Amino acid sequence: MSELPTLSAVRIEADRVVLRESREADRERLIELRTDPEVGAYIGGPSSREAVEQRIHEIGMANLTNAPGLFCIADKATDGFVGTIQLTRSAADEPGHLTDNAEELELGYLLHRDAWGAGLAFEAATAVLRAAAAELPDQPVILRTQTANMRSLRLADRLGFRTVRTFEWCDADQTLSAADLHSFKA
Ligand SMILES: CC(C)(COP(=O)(O)OP(=O)(O)OC[C@H]1O[C@@H](n2cnc3c(N)ncnc32)[C@H](O)[C@@H]1OP(=O)(O)O)[C@@H](O)C(=O)NCCC(=O)NCCS
Repeated sequence: MSELPTLSAVRIEADRVVLRESREADRERLIELRTDPEVGAYIGGPSSREAVEQRIHEIGMANLTNAPGLFCIADKATDGFVGTIQLTRSAADEPGHLTDNAEELELGYLLHRDAWGAGLAFEAATAVLRAAAAELPDQPVILRTQTANMRSLRLADRLGFRTVRTFEWCDADQTLSAADLHSFKA
């Protein structure tokens, strides 16, 4: 794991969502998220319920976000689980970087199917990038998404990411996008 810093916040509030730690009450919705074929379509497919339950058992529901830059997205009014978002360091030995062996900050997001189409991922991503821009020096942020994942690419575009190039990974065509962290400063 990278030694480079990511953001230190453990809770970030936006208009309709709050980014917070995972908790026991999120269990069933998290299992739904990770086993949904539509959610998994461009990220290697859905997991089986047994596999997700096993992972939760090994790590512990409350520890799933126990690393800098990992959050659950919750509805601000009800605290109900909506999805997950992460701003973490990319692994240098994976393909799809701006420069060789870079460990850029990388954005990733998964929204429960019933929360798509309402701008909640956009709001959560804006909030996490803004918080990181306030804390960290300017640097590139990358996003790697399957080129067939139109919803994710539209979101990247709305956030202000620019397409850098495409590359092959996991037997699929992937798009590398990037943005300057300080372009998200409030
Ligand atoms: C990628 C993903 C997070 C995008 O979710 P999303 O809800 O489409 O994204 P946004 O939050 O940007 O919402 C945009 C939609 O909300 C609508 N919207 C409604 N109210 C809005 C508001 N107040 N602000 C912004 N958009 C709003 C937009 O018009 C847009 O609708 P459209 O998709 O019908 O054009 C979601 O599809 C997902 O979880 N996919 C599976 C996991 C995945 O592939 N992750 C990416 C891995 S790289």
